Formats: sequence, structure tokens, C-alpha cells
Amino acid sequence: MYELIDGKTISMDIKNEVKEEVKMLNAQGKKVSLAVILVGNDPASAVYVGNKKKACEYTGIESVSYELEENISQEELLSLIDKLNKQDDINGILVQLPLPKHIDEDAVIKAIAPEKDVDGFHPQSVGALSIGQKGYVSCTPAGIIELLKRSNVDIEGKECVVVGRSNIVGKPMALLLLRENGTVTVCHSRTKDLKEVTKRADILVVAIGKPKFITKEYVKEGAVVIDVGIHRNENNKLCGDVDFDDVAPITSKITPVPGGVGPMTIAMLMKNCVEGAK
Ligand code: GUN
Repeated sequence: MYELIDGKTISMDIKNEVKEEVKMLNAQGKKVSLAVILVGNDPASAVYVGNKKKACEYTGIESVSYELEENISQEELLSLIDKLNKQDDINGILVQLPLPKHIDEDAVIKAIAPEKDVDGFHPQSVGALSIGQKGYVSCTPAGIIELLKRSNVDIEGKECVVVGRSNIVGKPMALLLLRENGTVTVCHSRTKDLKEVTKRADILVVAIGKPKFITKEYVKEGAVVIDVGIHRNENNKLCGDVDFDDVAPITSKITPVPGGVGPMTIAMLMKNCVEGAK
């Protein structure tokens, strides 16, 4: 019988830990604050930003919100970031992605001071992770490591296969699993015989952005499966990159969608904010 990895409960535990830490910092006269920047009116981004602000409220982190017009110039956005970089009363800066097409996302990410880069997207943060130095780590992969550890999954020496090589999830995920002494393979759209590779995995992390792509033919009996995908199916129900009903029975542990990886991202953002303030 497989076990569900409960991201809802684990993310709540982390938010409660953050709440306690914020209380302690406040008692020492220190505040924790996050600047949240949303450009334009993408409905999904508005929901994500709303959830981030709610989590701030819950944990006692002060959020300062900037809702900017779709047609704001890149210069104006960069000058706001520059101002926030210099403000001592702001610990973290988050620019919700994607940005409108006329704005160069890389330039915006690079403009955030690495010590305030709570998303862990700055090249310096990514570089630090790759050579094992201190720095902020992208929230979704960091959350997956927490899910594994708090579900008593040993990573050391295990065959870890990551499907997907995005800068936000796949690549940092591979680096984090390596830091935990896993044996790591990264697969992507050009991988030959994907099934043959994924079937080796003791720990399989799937972030390919294709609904229900991974069926049981891709999974070894007893594997731990982590599903990063989130989609709406034809009946408007949420589903992941993994065909849960098909795969779950042959796993030892698996994350559901919703209620698996999703809630961890925001919990880890809160954790990054408080770590920065400390
Ligand atoms: N867009 C989708 N995921 C994320 C995230 O984790 N951080 C930011 N800033 N934008 C996103």
C-alpha cells in the first residue's frame, strides 16, 4: 500500500515554524518584510500573489504590495527594484513571473539584490547553489527536499531522476538532490527512451508540464514519486504530470495534485523571507 506525501500538512507545519520565528524576531525589535511586485493583470499571477500575501499575513511577515500597470516601462520597474534594494525595512523582493513581453525578465531578475532574492532566481543565487555555497534556493525544489525529508525518504545514495530541466525547478532540483548525496539523472524532451531512464529511479521528480504524462510504465515498483505539474483536465479538475490513479498503486510514496508540491512553494518562500531577516 502506498503512502500519500501530504504537502498540505507539511506546508502548514513549516508556516507555523516560520510564524514562531517571526514572533521571536519581532520580540527583538526586528521585522520581517517582503515586497511583492505584480505587473499587469494575468489572472493566474494575481491568484498566486494573493496567496503569497495571505501566507505573509498568517506568518506575521509584513507584505508591501506593488501592483503595476501592464504597460509600465522596464526602466520604471528597474528603478522600483533599485529603490527596494536600498530600503533597510525590506528583507525580500519578489517579482511575480511571467512579465509582459516588452520587459526583459533576465534583466529584472538580475536587478534584485542577491541578499533580497527570496525566489532564488538571481544568477548569483543559482551559482552559489551549484558550488555548494550559501544563498537563496528556488522555493519549489527546496520545498520538495523538505517534503522528502519530513516524509522520512532517504536521499543519500539513491537513484534520483528529474524529468524537466527548467531554471526554476528541474535544474535546481538536480543540484539539491546532488547536495543530499543522491545519484542524479536529468531527463528532458530530447532524452532517448525516457521510460528506460525513469524506471531506474528510486526517487522520481516530474516537472514536464504535460498532464498525466507519466503512467506506470515509467515507474519502478516501490519508487517515491513527486509530481510538480498542475493542470486542469477536461472536467475542470486539477491533475498533475503524473497519472495518479495509474501510478500510485505501484509506488511506496507519492504526492497528490492538489495538496502535494503546490502548497510547499509558498511555505518555502516564507521560510526564505525569515532566513533572510535573521
Ligand atoms: N511564477 C511561477 N512561479 C513563480 C515563482 O515561484 N516565483 C515568481 N516570482 N514567479 C513565479
